[in-house]
Amino acid sequence: MTAATTTDVMILGAGAAGMMCAIEAARRGKSVTVIDHARAPGEKIRISGGGRCNFTNIHCTPANFLSSNRHFAISALKSYTQHDFIDRVKARGIAFHEKALGQLFCDGSAREIIAMLTDDMREAGVRLELATEILEVSPRDGGFATRTSAGVFHSASLVVATGGKSIPKMGATGLGYDIARQFGHRITDTRAGLVPFTWASNMHDSWGALSGVSLDVRAACNGASFDEAMLFTHRGLSGPAMLQVSSYWREGDAVATDLAPGIDLAAHLKAERSARPKTSVWTAIADILPKRLAQQFGTEAGSAPSKLADLSNAAIEEIVAGLRDFRIVPGGTEGYRTAEVTLGGVDTARINQKTMESQLVPGLHFIGEVVDVTGHLGGHNFQWAWSSGAAAGRSF
Ligand code: FDA
Repeated sequence: MTAATTTDVMILGAGAAGMMCAIEAARRGKSVTVIDHARAPGEKIRISGGGRCNFTNIHCTPANFLSSNRHFAISALKSYTQHDFIDRVKARGIAFHEKALGQLFCDGSAREIIAMLTDDMREAGVRLELATEILEVSPRDGGFATRTSAGVFHSASLVVATGGKSIPKMGATGLGYDIARQFGHRITDTRAGLVPFTWASNMHDSWGALSGVSLDVRAACNGASFDEAMLFTHRGLSGPAMLQVSSYWREGDAVATDLAPGIDLAAHLKAERSARPKTSVWTAIADILPKRLAQQFGTEAGSAPSKLADLSNAAIEEIVAGLRDFRIVPGGTEGYRTAEVTLGGVDTARINQKTMESQLVPGLHFIGEVVDVTGHLGGHNFQWAWSSGAAAGRSF
């Protein structure tokens, strides 16, 4: 039997959070081993942001996160900020740009971020074991024994950085939640977040035909509201506005959408009624909304009078109110298959917010997406991975 390898810090998962934690711990003189079953580290970084990685957001604050404890993320986000990560990217010479709403993307490729992290790990002396299965984790002499396909590792500290359940095809598993439960931690309800909606069966044929139509909207659900683009697809509704509200949506809830935010649609229709009285209201609406969408509303309205001249002010106001508060009850979401993140996770009530260490089992840490902290779309999820990874790594 081969002897066990001893390492100070064992990190499960070579994603964004695991790599950041490994670098910070190794720079503090700890021997660090990172295990991942994937063949390459940072696979989600590689595919993120359409291959350009939206690595952080200039405007990131704790208000950009969902969690059962909305105060939990404050400390880590404050001690390793978006500016700390931006400085690192600048020092490495990676060119980047702001796309919109403070979202920072690489000019070139997400692979540059991965290369920065893997080079930093190599320089700091981190041992990286890829294509390695994690078979069992158990407590041992006040520390941990991790049995893997590459042998057994004994460590004083164990960091769970195995991410969430989204995109199982890319290697996402529920291992982190199983380990948390094994050591007595509670897992809050997990569900797919930042995910497209699917049509309810009664909308599929008619509204699905609008596939490809996109427009700027204000979308709201359960108290959260986002001004971003919405995209009609064959399967349902997507685009940043819908992905954002999906994190607040529960089965059966309606999503309320203002299809012309900031535009005085009623004034436009009244002016058109004077200028082109014989025109259909839906044709006039097509000056503002995409034509196919306006036509769809016309079809839905059926035989109701549509000539502008026949519409009273009250009738115009009623039509506009319907477009300002267009309510859809989605049939569901596309689920973990396409979700960017997993909402919920390891309950923060038993995790130290400064060090990410378990309050139940000394030496055990949880970082990144496996924790019940989920960011809005726009670089916030990576910022949480960097901040929570740095918080744990710097605590060793
Ligand atoms: P991450 O998932 O990155 O890493 C976990 C690691 O653990 C993986 O390497 C995995 O292989 C490994 N692992 C899991 N189970 C294992 C097991 N049983 N055995 C061994 N290893 C195991 N965010 C953002 O801020 N900006 C963006 O542009 C995007 N874009 C984006 C696009 C797409 C398509 C997705 C799916 C997600 C995003 N995200 C994003 C979200 C972001 O990718 C995510 O929040 C972070 O990668 C989370 O980092 P972690 O390190 O916690 O998990």
